[in-house]
Amino acid sequence: MINKLKHTVRDRIVNAVRPMVEGMVKQRLLPMDSRVLDNSFITGKLLPYNTTSTEYIVKVEKDGRASASTPPIPPLEYWEGYADSDEDYLAGGRKDMAAMLSILNQANETPLTLTKVLDLGCAAGRMLRHYPCLTDTTELWGSDINAKYINWCQQNFEDPFYFLTNTTAPHLPFEDNSFDLVYCGSVFTHITDTADAWLMEIRRILRKGGYAYLTIHDEHTLDLMFTKYKDDPLFFYFVEAVRKFYEEQSAEALKDYVYFTIFSDPASQIFYNREYLVKKWSRFATVVSVTPEAHDHQTAILLRKP
Ligand SMILES: C[S@@+](CC[C@H](N)C(=O)[O-])C[C@H]1O[C@@H](n2cnc3c(N)ncnc32)[C@H](O)[C@@H]1O
Repeated sequence: MINKLKHTVRDRIVNAVRPMVEGMVKQRLLPMDSRVLDNSFITGKLLPYNTTSTEYIVKVEKDGRASASTPPIPPLEYWEGYADSDEDYLAGGRKDMAAMLSILNQANETPLTLTKVLDLGCAAGRMLRHYPCLTDTTELWGSDINAKYINWCQQNFEDPFYFLTNTTAPHLPFEDNSFDLVYCGSVFTHITDTADAWLMEIRRILRKGGYAYLTIHDEHTLDLMFTKYKDDPLFFYFVEAVRKFYEEQSAEALKDYVYFTIFSDPASQIFYNREYLVKKWSRFATVVSVTPEAHDHQTAILLRKP
């Protein structure tokens, strides 16, 4: 009885705040001009430094504390919702990096053997800042479609870090066979139709035997959304968007999917049938391991270029 009452009250609150939440979800996930960003027919999109004018001044954003070993903490609006305090920002990036290194370690690889690295979709270098620089030849690249993040990184990270802005078109300005490791933490979660083309592009720039570490949403992620993360304030917008999508679909529509997606690239949230994806990608590269909850709620797939 009490439970039923609780649910009724909860549903009333959810219904009352839903229009507001929907607006906030869209605003947060699609913060720019949605005529372009929301258009699935357009690829080659980016989040420009200035979204409102073609005349603009790029400001000095260098933090005086920047040094090769300790880049400063970026402004909160560059955190991609990963944390709500400086300590959490650092700890979260360290944890996600440690998870990736541990998975690579199980494949007998370490930062000593993987020295030329690309963090594709690096945001403000949340993970990249923790990659161990163990050799004189280590070269750590970050790229992102958000020019503001890249501008900040270029001003605040020093050697051996390099950064550039790319677009949503599956092309990277790097030579063939030139990287030991390319990783994407929560980036293939925002790429729909061009995901395979992106994987092929990553494969092109990897050397033979090089690794791609990609995190994705799958069925396990969905379970976690409605259990472990359902009341986590950092996941509020995300859980609400998924919940709303789920409520709008029929049980029939949700049966037997290979993937489903909410919103459009680069703000999409794509959820895979894991078995389908692993089978598909194993035709492009060797699937070394699949690790649920490697990146919070996301599953990591480690691939090796044959
Ligand atoms: C959820 S954030 C993850 C950021 C970072 N990887 C981390 O773990 O902190 C997703 C990032 O991917 C970027 N992004 C989305 N699509 C991209 C693409 N096709 N190429 C490069 N970056 C992309 C977004 O701008 C955003 O910074």
